[in-house]
Amino acid sequence: MKISDELASAIASVTEVAAIAAFEWVGKQDKNAADNAAVEAMRNRLNQIDFHGKIVIGEGEIDEAPMLYIGEQVGKQSSEHHLDIAVDPIDGTRMVACNEHNAIAVLAAAPTGTLLQAPDMYMEKMVVGPAAKGAVHLKNPIEKNLEFLSAALDKPISMLNVAILDKPRHQHIIKIIRNFGANVITIPDGDVLASLLTILPEHSIDMMYGTGGAPEGIISAAIARALGGDMQARLVPRNKAKDDTKQNQLLAAQEAIRCQQMGIEIGEILTLDSMVSTSDVIFSATAITPSVLMNGISNDPHSCSASTILVNGNNRSMKIINNRYFK
Ligand code: FBP
Repeated sequence: MKISDELASAIASVTEVAAIAAFEWVGKQDKNAADNAAVEAMRNRLNQIDFHGKIVIGEGEIDEAPMLYIGEQVGKQSSEHHLDIAVDPIDGTRMVACNEHNAIAVLAAAPTGTLLQAPDMYMEKMVVGPAAKGAVHLKNPIEKNLEFLSAALDKPISMLNVAILDKPRHQHIIKIIRNFGANVITIPDGDVLASLLTILPEHSIDMMYGTGGAPEGIISAAIARALGGDMQARLVPRNKAKDDTKQNQLLAAQEAIRCQQMGIEIGEILTLDSMVSTSDVIFSATAITPSVLMNGISNDPHSCSASTILVNGNNRSMKIINNRYFK
């Protein structure tokens, strides 16, 4: 059964309440308080909606996350809609804490069994828009992919823009891309928004590449699936994405066990279809702080405004919902 427009709108209201709750913490230098506020608001709203939902990408496992943990049932459990839910109540907790642009509350939803359940670990991701679908492959060296991308987009390599998280692990690849002649747009955080901008044709990013969170990766895959873009990914152990310390090796060993339990192989290339196996997928993002796509939350004594992007893979549509609530 297809996700109805009514249910899609209800889903948009989930990221909206999370963004409004997180906004209270903008600039307060407290990432955890912001995240807790967004999680709680998201969970309360999800539980008011008429559907059977199961969190497949969430705030962690039951023993480490009191709410929106992987496996948690949400929704009123009272309709014929059964959905997998992937949430990231704040993508950009640091941006919220420091009052920087580009923080969003995000959620993806699709019929039960169609979203890959991945542990909360690192993931290498390569995202391109519809015009480059099928043109690049993670097994290739980045230079080859840039050549293929340039041919698919009919753009010289010197005009290609690649967005990459500005992290120590990426300094080498950033150098390679620049030496090859393409442009690198470094982003401090927030690779879901960068993926969305890559997939939308009117923005200047041609590829989003690099290692970030796997939960954010599955949510980005939902956008790519809904709007006809492309993405490949592979899970990366923590001690390969971060420093190879004893502590990170221990965490990597736990990640390996979790992957085995979930039936995913670390390092295996995940195609877009293996991450999101349906186009009946909804993606919603509400801006907490401003970005090129949306105004951030504004809240004054008289009213509160929120701007949400709702993508519906059913009809490959995207709408921006600007709500203003008077007090
Ligand atoms: P959070 O807001 O959950 O911290 O995520 C921000 C983010 O930049 C993601 O967009 C990205 O996938 C991930 O962190 C990268 O992780 P790290 O900062 O540990 O390299």
